[in-house]
Amino acid sequence: MTDAKNKTFTLTDDQTGKSYKLPVLDGAAGPSVIDVRKLYAETGHFTFDPSFTSTASCKSRLTFIDGDEGILMHRGYDIAELATKSTHMEVCYLLLYGDLPTATQLAEFTHNITYHTMVHDQMNKFFQGFRRDAHPMAVMCGVTGALSAFYHDSLDIRDPKQREISAHRLIAKIPTLAAMAMKYNMGQPFMYPRNDLTYPENFLYMCFAVPAEAYKINPVLARAMDRIMILHADHEQNASTSTVRLAGSSQANPFACIAAGIASLWGASHGGANQEVLEMLDEIGSVERIPEYIKKAKDKDDPFRLMGFGHRVYKNFDPRAQVLKQSCDEVLDELGVRDPRLKLARELERIALEDPYFVERKLFPNVDFYSGIILKAMGFPVSMFTVLFAVSRTVGWISQWKEMIEEPDLRIGRPRQLYTGAAKRPYVDIKKRG
Ligand code: SDX
Repeated sequence: MTDAKNKTFTLTDDQTGKSYKLPVLDGAAGPSVIDVRKLYAETGHFTFDPSFTSTASCKSRLTFIDGDEGILMHRGYDIAELATKSTHMEVCYLLLYGDLPTATQLAEFTHNITYHTMVHDQMNKFFQGFRRDAHPMAVMCGVTGALSAFYHDSLDIRDPKQREISAHRLIAKIPTLAAMAMKYNMGQPFMYPRNDLTYPENFLYMCFAVPAEAYKINPVLARAMDRIMILHADHEQNASTSTVRLAGSSQANPFACIAAGIASLWGASHGGANQEVLEMLDEIGSVERIPEYIKKAKDKDDPFRLMGFGHRVYKNFDPRAQVLKQSCDEVLDELGVRDPRLKLARELERIALEDPYFVERKLFPNVDFYSGIILKAMGFPVSMFTVLFAVSRTVGWISQWKEMIEEPDLRIGRPRQLYTGAAKRPYVDIKKRG
C-alpha cells in the first residue's frame, strides 16, 4: 500500500453542506480505495454495501485478480504459468512465505508437510457418528472443527512458530480427512497416508487404494490432481476466505476457522457449484435441450441458473476455467474416457456466449464449469467435488489467516447495519395480546 501522495476524495453532505476529505490509498495494482475508517466518527454515517460489491475488507499481498482482463496472480506469478510449470507444494510455499522456494526450501517444506499427514487415531471415531450417506462436506465441517481439540501444543496464535505448525498441519491433514470422508461414504476402510508419495499421489492413494491389492499411481491422474489443486488454491477475498478472516479476527482457533471456511464454500453459489454443474449437465441431458435451459436461466421467475457461469469479479473469462478447459481434453484422452458431458458443456458454453443475456451481463464460464468433468473422469463421486475444492483452498485460507494475524493493527471484524426494525415499544403481557 503506497502513500497516495495526499490523494483525497471529498464527500459533501447535502443536508448540512459540510464536506469531508477522505484519504485515497493506492495498492500495488488494481483499484485505489477510499479510506472510510473515520467516516462514522466524522459524519455519523455508515457505508452500506451488504454483499461487499464495492468494499475492500483488508490489505493483502497474496493474490491479485483483474476481473475485466481475466487476470489471476499469486504473489505476482500468473496462474496459467503456475498451473503448467509449478506444483501444489511449491504454490503452498509461495502463498505462505511470499516467494518461490529454493530446491532446499521446497524439500524441507515438503518433508514437514509429509510428516504431518497422519491424523490422531481417535479422529476415526468422529466419522462413526455420521450416517454413511452423509454429504462429505457435512462430514468435513465436523471433522475439521474436531481437529481444533487435538493440538493443545499450538493454541497461541500470537506465536509465529505455533501459527506455522498449525498451517502445516492443516495443509497436511485436510487431504487425509477428505479421503477418509470419501472412504466412509463408500463403506471402504480408511487408507493411511504414505510418506513415499508426493502430495497429489498420496491423496489419490488414500482415495482410491484398497487394502486388498497394490495401487498403481497413474502419473496422468497425479498431474491432473496437482493442477486442479493449484488452480483452486487461493482467490482473494471470496466468501469462504472472508469467512475465515472474520472468524480469525476474533483470535479463534485456526482449525475452527478453516471449518467455518468449509461451511461457506459448501454453498451452491460458491464451491458447491462444481457439483451443481455436473447435476445440471445430467439434467439437460442432450444438446437439443440446451435452448430450453438457456431460457430457464434467463427467466427471472425461474430459480434455475446456469451453474458454473458468472462471477462476482470476473467480467471476462475466468483464467482457471481456460486452463481446466484445455486440461479436459488432455485428461480424458489420456484416460481414454469419452464423457458426453464434455461435448454438452462445450455446446452450452458456445450457445450461452452468443446469447445477449449472457454477453450483456458478462457471464462467462468460471472455475467450476469444467472441473467437475475432469474429476468425474478421474473417478471421484460427484459428492466429493466440493471437498476437493476445500482440500485445494485450505492453503489459501490458512495463508490469508496467517497474513491477517500478522497485521500489526489486527482488530476484531465487527460490521454495523442499517436498522429497519420496530421502534421502541412497551412490553405487553401475554393476557393482553391478540
Ligand atoms: C466460485 O468469489 C470467488 O472468487 C469465488 C470463486 C473462488 O475461487 O473462490 O471463484 C469460486 O464460487 C465461482 C462461482 C461459482 N458459482 C456458480 O457458478 C453459481 C452460478 N453463478 C451465479 O450464482 C453468480 O454468477 C455468482 C454467485 C457466481 C455471482 O453472483 P453476483 O456477482 O451476485 O451476480 P448477480 O447474482 O448479481 O448476477 C448479475 C446478473 C443478474 O441478472 P440481472 O438481475 O442483472 O438481470 O446476472 C445474472 C443475475 O440473474 N446471473 C445469472 C447467472 N449468474 C448471474 N443468470 C443465469 N445464470 C447464472 N449463472
